[in-house]
Amino acid sequence: MKVLVTGVSGYIGSHAALELLKAGHEVHGFDNLSNSSEEAVRRVRALAGRPLRFERLDLLDAEGLGRLLKEGFDAVLHFAGLKAVGESVEKPELYRRNNVDGSANLLAAMEAAGCRKLVFSSSCTVYGEVRENPVDESHPLGAVNPYGRTKLDVENLCLERARLDPRWRIALLRYFNPVGAHDSGRIGEDPRGVPNNLMPFVMQAAVGRRDKVRVWGNDYPTPDGTGVRDYIHVVDLALGHLAALDHLDAFVGARAFNLGTGRGASVLEVIAAAARAAGREIAYEIAPRRPGDAAAIWADPARARRELGWSARLGLERMCADHWRWQKDNPNGYGA
Ligand code: WQD
Repeated sequence: MKVLVTGVSGYIGSHAALELLKAGHEVHGFDNLSNSSEEAVRRVRALAGRPLRFERLDLLDAEGLGRLLKEGFDAVLHFAGLKAVGESVEKPELYRRNNVDGSANLLAAMEAAGCRKLVFSSSCTVYGEVRENPVDESHPLGAVNPYGRTKLDVENLCLERARLDPRWRIALLRYFNPVGAHDSGRIGEDPRGVPNNLMPFVMQAAVGRRDKVRVWGNDYPTPDGTGVRDYIHVVDLALGHLAALDHLDAFVGARAFNLGTGRGASVLEVIAAAARAAGREIAYEIAPRRPGDAAAIWADPARARRELGWSARLGLERMCADHWRWQKDNPNGYGA
């Protein structure tokens, strides 16, 4: 298929573009480079040994989107968006405009060009307060922060599109916690500034960019008192997008799928696994809980396994080994 990837130079987008190219798809991508580097695109081309057309474009450029979509694509994988929960609390309007208005522009441009196949990068944050684990797609939805609200709003835009016109085929992929990197060590997560998320912070501590990891709370009702999450290898996540793309004609309208492993791991377990991968101790200290954090959330991935023929294959040791290789080989990410 001829596929357009939005946010193609980002962490998940670049890994998905590589898997699309390896699977033989024709891939075009754009990104506004506000939180990523075009170097990632150059490396994806080199790893795939195939062309990947890239242009700098912003979701808020409705005219530019219209021009690009009119070139004709079979489907769109939509990753572009702001994704820092903490920043979304400080700048909710920025997140709404970029993530929601931007996605509305994309849907309109797709409709105008007659392209009605979409795989959307959603998030387990749409489940809000977790009532019971594992979480399946029927769990009540709710936003506990502006970022999660934008993901829910875009899911609803997609559902409305599909309700009005059943020719739309949309997969809403709810990520749990993406970590790891392609095993070449050439592409990976490259957060700007101080990482919000656990794994990049732990790996920056391992490589000496941070002095120690702060463990946000060890008094949760979990086996070791620290937060439990469903960490999923970014390559497994990318392959989940290809599986969704291949199955878009199997269902009508918009449909949500959890992309998780179905297993939870605690903060202390992640730190220990990362230390094994890096072959060195990683210093940490116990700090107060981070406001808004859930004690535990992990996925029930049965629907994706049943309907997409997909399930995660890689475990925490491999996630840490691959993330460490990326961090060690690129201590400053894609930067100079
Ligand atoms: C994980 C655990 C923290 C940092 C994120 C994204 C969200 C979604 C899911 C995609 C928690 C603890 C963290 C640190 C710590 N992704 N922690 N010290 O909050 O589950 O959600 O992934 O859409 O957008 O925000 O991930 O990595 O921030 O936290 O102790 O320095 O690690 O308390 O238990 P989170 P996280």
